[in-house]
Amino acid sequence: MRQAVAALYERNRQQGTAPWCGLEYDFVCPSYGTYPFQWFWDSGFHAVALAHVDPGRARAEMRSLLRNAQPDGFVAHVTFWQREKYEDMLQTYSIAYRTPYLSDCIQPPVLAEGVAAAARGAGGREFLAEVLPAVVRYYDWVDRVRDPDRDGLIATLQPDESGLDHTPKYDAYLRIPRVEHAEFTAAWERVAGPYGEVGRDPGAMFALDLFVVEDVLVNSIYGENQRVLAEMLEATGQAAAAAAMRARAARTTQSLVEKCRDAKTGLFFDLAGRREDPLRVSTVSSLMPLILPDLPKEAAARLAALIEDPREYGAPYPVPSVAMSEPSFVPGVVGGKLLWRGATWMNTNWYLSRGLRRHGREDLARRIEDRSAELVERSGFFEYYDPFTGEGHGARDFSWTALVLDMLARHEGG
Ligand code: GLC
Repeated sequence: MRQAVAALYERNRQQGTAPWCGLEYDFVCPSYGTYPFQWFWDSGFHAVALAHVDPGRARAEMRSLLRNAQPDGFVAHVTFWQREKYEDMLQTYSIAYRTPYLSDCIQPPVLAEGVAAAARGAGGREFLAEVLPAVVRYYDWVDRVRDPDRDGLIATLQPDESGLDHTPKYDAYLRIPRVEHAEFTAAWERVAGPYGEVGRDPGAMFALDLFVVEDVLVNSIYGENQRVLAEMLEATGQAAAAAAMRARAARTTQSLVEKCRDAKTGLFFDLAGRREDPLRVSTVSSLMPLILPDLPKEAAARLAALIEDPREYGAPYPVPSVAMSEPSFVPGVVGGKLLWRGATWMNTNWYLSRGLRRHGREDLARRIEDRSAELVERSGFFEYYDPFTGEGHGARDFSWTALVLDMLARHEGG
């Protein structure tokens, strides 16, 4: 697997100097066929996998991501390093731009975890000293700009910010009449259009209340990353900053439990709009608080039971991105290229298997790890897989699927 990942990351490597900013880049793109740019959360995952095959490149990946960090702390969800080469492809994307080369969106904040993985081994302290200020500025930006109600939960302002582009949990909120790509594009424009008119000013976008979601997947990852950042601050002798960051992480867990947890089902639901209406669709997001070590025992046990349940998430190739009991669940390809409507993805498996280990369910974690490895061994590195047949779909040579290497390393106690 290590060799296969090294070969994949050689094929998907992008290296050069961008004329538009005069800066060097060296990163792994998600997939040459469809995603030839640098994506934020993908890069965090790539760093985790790269740490096993080439630690120097893991650091280069994170440096490339941070190279275009803005003075206010913001880091774009896509950096279009070689924009000119792919103009035709860009016509097919729905993207909001901050500059022609940077998107104006966030993605789940996997930055601290990516940096922590890249900092392992010799020279790690120097690397942390170099990048941590920008990492802290990023989390401060997210906290300052995306949590106006100060509950420790950050809000996404567009559906693509969760990284779960066409998830059915937004169908009703976005008023999607038919599960077709054109309807999702139209819904995206109903949000992004008015944002453009207010100059994409965050305060004004919140005030429009068109799409404001305190997303459970985003905030579970946010909580975990604040915790990881606190550890890195501690390790570099910044005890006061570490304590403050740890308190922020605890507040995020507390609000997820108090505001998003449905006591009846044990599921966690996103909160939508100023009224914070729960989006009651059972998706993989609903399980994600399992990654938080400080999640109360009982809440974690309920989530583990749902992952095991053959009517909910206990598919032959777990963990499907939508509960099998949901009417919107589709195991394979849907609407040509609609994503996150039921298929199994490696990044959520990576999180959930770690969460299960943290909460004493090593047996179930191993099952997910084994089945994940089987998917890649049988079909190769696909973007997502059918939870019943294991067939691979979507982009080929998809880079974050290499997270399976980290899952196997853990599995072997490495
Ligand atoms: C799709 C995914 C998103 C990912 C991007 C690049 O848009 O939904 O999560 O970051 O592709 O791989």
